[in-house]
Amino acid sequence: VDERIVAPLNEMFKAMRAEGLQPLVCSGYRTIEKQHNLFEDDIKQQVRQGSTYDQAFYKAKEYTAMPGASEHHTGLAVDIVGKSHQSLNAAQARTKEAIWLAEHCAEYGFILRYPADKRDITGIAYESWHFRYVGVDLASKLYNNGDWITLESYFGITSKYN
Ligand code: DAL
Ligand code: ZN
Repeated sequence: VDERIVAPLNEMFKAMRAEGLQPLVCSGYRTIEKQHNLFEDDIKQQVRQGSTYDQAFYKAKEYTAMPGASEHHTGLAVDIVGKSHQSLNAAQARTKEAIWLAEHCAEYGFILRYPADKRDITGIAYESWHFRYVGVDLASKLYNNGDWITLESYFGITSKYN
């Protein structure tokens, strides 16, 4: 990860461990080549399941950012899971770690970047594990009692590619 998030990430994990939680970073900094491989793997999986290449491409894009466009390239985004549930699937949102993070991550400067009900705005499906560091000031403006303002809404950015 970028060195700027080491301290806040450790502080957040310390608070989680103090409550008996077992957080793990399962993905941090990624190269464009790594993202390219992830994206291609997603497409291949969709094609194996019967999609055309075009359908597979658009489906993959809902879950994996295009190579070069992932926040993971910045080192400021991390995927966090609990030790007892390391799969990135719908059930991950119900783990104790995911529930704690959704409620407290902003106190440490992180945001839940892809909330469940904001797919139309972010272009990315719900990811209960993906947290982006923006600093405490901005994170606390974006978090309001369980509801998130997306970075897109806050900065007035829309994508015609969504
Ligand atoms: N899964 C997120 C969107 C990424 O690939 O950056
Ligand atoms: Zn991620």
